[in-house]
Amino acid sequence: MRIAIIGAGAVGQALAQGWSTAGHTVKLGVPDPKAAKYQGLRPQPTTPAAAAADAEAIVLATPWPKTEAAIGGLGNLAGRIVIDCTNPLTRGAQGMSLEIGHSVSAGKRVAQWAKGASVFKTLNHTGADNMANAARFKVKPAMFVAGDDAAKKPAVLKLVSDLGFDAIDAGPLSNARLLEPLAMLWIDQVFARGRGRDFAFALVKRG
Ligand SMILES: NC(=O)c1ccc[n+]([C@@H]2O[C@H](COP(=O)([O-])OP(=O)(O)OC[C@H]3O[C@@H](n4cnc5c(N)ncnc54)[C@H](OP(=O)(O)O)[C@@H]3O)[C@@H](O)[C@H]2O)c1
Repeated sequence: MRIAIIGAGAVGQALAQGWSTAGHTVKLGVPDPKAAKYQGLRPQPTTPAAAAADAEAIVLATPWPKTEAAIGGLGNLAGRIVIDCTNPLTRGAQGMSLEIGHSVSAGKRVAQWAKGASVFKTLNHTGADNMANAARFKVKPAMFVAGDDAAKKPAVLKLVSDLGFDAIDAGPLSNARLLEPLAMLWIDQVFARGRGRDFAFALVKRG
């Protein structure tokens, strides 16, 4: 598949590595592709609009506060697959929380901004290192996928599965409000419980 990843930080680079290894064609889009930090990166980043132009799937790997502007730079997204990996996290006196609360989600906001796109929430509830190395776990790590477009969901589940995850349908996009707190749980384990970044959630069955 032709995949455009918008943002080439920890998540963008990990997904680019994982999907390139799986045989997909990946383009990275960043605001300033000529910036020193992107030189030598493979694939060499281009602008977000150029990356997205002929992509079959567009992946948002941008900081939450930059995500609306990033979507605005991608042109008409109607009918396109948009995969939202963002987490709307903020850190305050009470510790970490979801900037937009629990009744709405970043995934739903993305769907409002990316008018007419088929938006899927996934690849947000484990660490970037695990996205590039999902196939190296003894038990396949779980990766839930929430989205409303039943016709396009199998293609997204396949992309997630190609990274080495146990790709699991998590229902409609409104369930992004369940997946974003799940990311907080992962981050809390890492930063407040000292677990390290090399663990992931898995779905196991009795018997
Ligand atoms: N890190 C993790 O383990 C992890 C795991 C799951 C989900 N997430 C979520 O995934 C998202 C990305 O996280 P990250 O750790 O990869 O962040 P990061 O390392 O800070 O990278 C963010 C990337 O987005 C780019 N960017 C910023 N504004 C942009 C715009 N308007 N258009 C296009 N690209 C833009 C940045 O480019 P410049 O720096 O050149 O501006 C940078 O390449 C966040 O929402 C985060 O919460 C992170």
